[in-house]
Amino acid sequence: MFCCRHLFFIFLLLGSCTSTSIITVDEPLSDGHDNVLVSSGESFVLGFFSPGNSSRRYVGIWYNKVSEQTVVWVANRNNPITNNSGVLSLDKTGNLVLFDSQKPDVVVWSTNVSSLSSFGESNYSAELLDTGNLVVHNSKNKGFVWQSFDFPTDTLLPDMKFGVDRRSGLNRFLTSWKSSDNPEAGSYSYMIDINGSVPQLFLYKDKDPFWRGGSWNGLRWTGVPELRSNFIFKVSYVDNAEEVSIVYGMLNASIISRMVLNESTGTIQRSTWHPGDHRWDNFWSAPQDQCDYFSHCGVYGDCSLYNSGEYECKCLPGFEPKSPRDWYLRDGSQGCVQKQNSQLCRNGEGFVQLAEVKLPDTTKTKLDMNLGNKACAELCLKNCSCTGYSGADVRGGGFSGCITWYDKLVDLREYSRGGQDFYIRVDAVELAKNTKKSKRIQGYVKVLVPVLLSAVIFVLFALAYWLITKRKKALRRKEGMMWFQNDTNKRGISVHGSSMEEEVDEIETSNVDVKFYTLSTIIDATENFSLANKVGEGGFGSVYKGKLRNGQEIAVKRLSNTSGQGIEEFRNEVTLIAKLQHRNLVRLFGYCIQREEKMLIYEYLPNKGLDCFLFDKEKKSVLDWKKRFDITLGIARGMVYLHHDSRLRIIHRDLKASNVLLDLNLNPKISDFGMARIFGNNQVEETTRRVVGTYGYMSPEYAMEGLFSIKSDVFSFGVMLLEIITGRKNSSYQSENFINMIGHVWDLWGESNALEIVDPALGNTHEYDSEILRCIHIALLCVQESAAARPSMSEVVFMLCNEISLQPPGQAAFLLRTANRGLTNTSSGSVGGVSVNDYTISTVEGR
Ligand SMILES: *[C@@H]1O[C@H](CO)[C@@H](O)[C@H](O)[C@H]1NC(C)=O
Ligand SMILES: *[C@@H]1O[C@H](CO)[C@@H](O)[C@H](O)[C@H]1NC(C)=O
Ligand SMILES: *[C@@H]1O[C@H](CO)[C@@H](O)[C@H](O)[C@H]1NC(C)=O
Ligand SMILES: *[C@@H]1O[C@H](CO)[C@@H](O)[C@H](O)[C@H]1NC(C)=O
Ligand SMILES: *[C@@H]1O[C@H](CO)[C@@H](O)[C@H](O)[C@H]1NC(C)=O
Ligand SMILES: *[C@@H]1O[C@H](CO)[C@@H](O)[C@H](O)[C@H]1NC(C)=O
Ligand SMILES: *[C@@H]1O[C@H](CO)[C@@H](O)[C@H](O)[C@H]1NC(C)=O
Ligand SMILES: *[C@@H]1O[C@H](CO)[C@@H](O)[C@H](O)[C@H]1NC(C)=O
Repeated sequence: MFCCRHLFFIFLLLGSCTSTSIITVDEPLSDGHDNVLVSSGESFVLGFFSPGNSSRRYVGIWYNKVSEQTVVWVANRNNPITNNSGVLSLDKTGNLVLFDSQKPDVVVWSTNVSSLSSFGESNYSAELLDTGNLVVHNSKNKGFVWQSFDFPTDTLLPDMKFGVDRRSGLNRFLTSWKSSDNPEAGSYSYMIDINGSVPQLFLYKDKDPFWRGGSWNGLRWTGVPELRSNFIFKVSYVDNAEEVSIVYGMLNASIISRMVLNESTGTIQRSTWHPGDHRWDNFWSAPQDQCDYFSHCGVYGDCSLYNSGEYECKCLPGFEPKSPRDWYLRDGSQGCVQKQNSQLCRNGEGFVQLAEVKLPDTTKTKLDMNLGNKACAELCLKNCSCTGYSGADVRGGGFSGCITWYDKLVDLREYSRGGQDFYIRVDAVELAKNTKKSKRIQGYVKVLVPVLLSAVIFVLFALAYWLITKRKKALRRKEGMMWFQNDTNKRGISVHGSSMEEEVDEIETSNVDVKFYTLSTIIDATENFSLANKVGEGGFGSVYKGKLRNGQEIAVKRLSNTSGQGIEEFRNEVTLIAKLQHRNLVRLFGYCIQREEKMLIYEYLPNKGLDCFLFDKEKKSVLDWKKRFDITLGIARGMVYLHHDSRLRIIHRDLKASNVLLDLNLNPKISDFGMARIFGNNQVEETTRRVVGTYGYMSPEYAMEGLFSIKSDVFSFGVMLLEIITGRKNSSYQSENFINMIGHVWDLWGESNALEIVDPALGNTHEYDSEILRCIHIALLCVQESAAARPSMSEVVFMLCNEISLQPPGQAAFLLRTANRGLTNTSSGSVGGVSVNDYTISTVEGR
């Protein structure tokens, strides 16, 4: 006993004041006294820590230069030490051993490598490398006898191998923490599954597939189309007899980036540390939308979120809904069945091409790397149980390698871009239906080809000359890099500083239908901007209804005050914004520029804004609770698309009820997005300042510090959700001696009386009480004072659609707490510079 105590004190003495990166047999690392290992480049630290509010002690590795302790690896995740008496030592056999000095005989955790004796008597040391890898090496042998990178926890670091070593069977995969207090393995795991003929990336929840990244197609995972050429990191994927692995290497070592599996959101996130703002920024996560959830539309279903069609779920060609009733209620989980009387075996069957899709689950497939498209089709036709085929490698835009499916087709979805071609087996009837269509296209092509070809050749020459002279440098940099898609313009991603913006690619104007309208067309359509045709006055100018000669109705937004921007810049931004297409966004058709006059041409929606329904005594009865819920979900989905799914990252900045238009079926469509891009940021701020009614939707960080992020949009969404539930304008509360709407709801929530706020016009809503309460809860999460605590829009969609338990909302933001200091109009005040106490608000209505 004495001996042990004695030893312990020696440990303490030796351990104190260490600033080394090495543990040796003689120098263990003991808990306490700020004893840590620091890697040689000072990027990472290894030591004892207590996660969150827990008092338990763990050995872990965290960033040295990240102000918020971010643990990237835990040794004893399942076996904590209860008090500060842990010691991590290196024994003579080269194994790291963690024990409690009060119970030195019990091994808490060990690297447990048994084959080390073959090195004979040698000097071992454990070293924390600057990559964040804890390694054990010996003096005789190069290489590592053990490394922590082989046993990841929830974090994938740059240069860390992810995947399976086929020789040893070692599988390096991520598992989430149970909670922020408990690093034990939680319910999610993220790994490469090598069971099928093609390795696939999977996110599992409790062993069930939750999201599928799919197979690697030479360029990217089929389920991650946004992975594109990139100047942030390079990806190396290896699939050979020895291993299947992927490694992300940073191109700029000073950018701190990680991939982490998050238990609370159920997502795999890639985030980057912003040293200036002291926060992690998630710039990519999966799953992102409904269609991402594994087999969302069931077997033989096709999930398509982006098409403007009515349903998310469609059946693949030749199939029909198994349970039509559920299907039309938007529950696609039962999937589809083969249409009756279809003959798929030696009866004139063939293939229909599905373009831009995520390939179905490849678990039951065969792979032959030596076949091309034609041979692949033949192979599939020969075997009547073959349901479809596709190419395995799409590099160079080609088709090489052949994957054939022999089972139900599961988890296929469409992308607006970046998908792959899949060929599905259909019977003769279905084939005829589809080939007719493509023949028509072919005829068209025959006429156009010669004309286009000569035009293209000319353009190519001009372009080539221009590229060679001007873009040499930029092009060289791009080679061999991968990028989370933002292919047209890199300003959308917030990971990097402005220095990278200079390397913006050419604006890609091809294959987007952005029309240029002449002024005379618009004058004609709007009857010279007649007052009778004026349908609104918005923050950015007046809106006119118009009718083109061909009968199409349009909405013309005549922009005021656009002098700040050049024509070219304007055109480029419009082109980018017009590419954003989603069922819950108003479509931008084109633009018109003439001298100082700039106009945006939108699709025309006969119904007015959500505000006109919600806040109108008579019209609001049209919106029963179910409708209001659908509208909420639609808005949220539109916002997810703007924030995460589209190729640009769009922050709306002015989300409010009057900026949500309703179509004939009362489906919500968000308008006025992308204004920050079209106008430049300053002008949007100015405009929102002018429209003082908008203040009620502003997050505190924006109103007080001028800070804007996607979380500010989330705040505005929360305010709007409360308005949808209460049927009242947020500004209407101040006149009744409430602090404001948020404060009022917050107080009632605290008293468990939140249902009192529900719009009386909804009548008896008993059967929906739990859903309404849930929505109030979500709204309160969105309007939290702390921007970081607010959920992302994709989390909001998830929470709306799933009855998962929600975190209690934190302190809500009472933007108008100081409102009693005087209600004056701030139309000329500067938002950026006002202090909290000076902050005043007007109840003047926006539009
Ligand atoms: C940790 O404790 C603090 C203070 O008691 C509390 O505010 C916070 O919510 C706790 N965090 C967690 C994750 O339990
Ligand atoms: C350490 O924990 C053990 C139980 O695991 C307890 O018996 C002991 O008193 C604790 N020591 C201190 C100093 O807290
Ligand atoms: C070490 O490995 C052996 C066999 O592989 C296993 O029985 C033992 O439980 C492991 N010990 C620890 C501490 O993980
Ligand atoms: C271990 O290291 C010491 C000092 O570095 C050296 O003198 C000794 O020869 C080494 N022993 C072996 C077996 O390599
Ligand atoms: C692969 O197959 C084996 C044996 O059938 C199974 O135990 C394992 O869970 C599978 N792996 C994955 C990732 O599904
Ligand atoms: C790397 O990133 C840092 C910080 O973002 C930046 O200051 C530096 O210029 C970058 N270096 C290169 C070579 O791009
Ligand atoms: C998980 O996501 C939540 C919300 O985005 C965030 O607060 C939390 O820090 C994340 N956890 C990890 C381990 O990154
Ligand atoms: C068709 O493929 C399945 C699955 O690989 C196989 O079991 C079956 O034997 C094949 N049938 C023929 C006729 O080749």
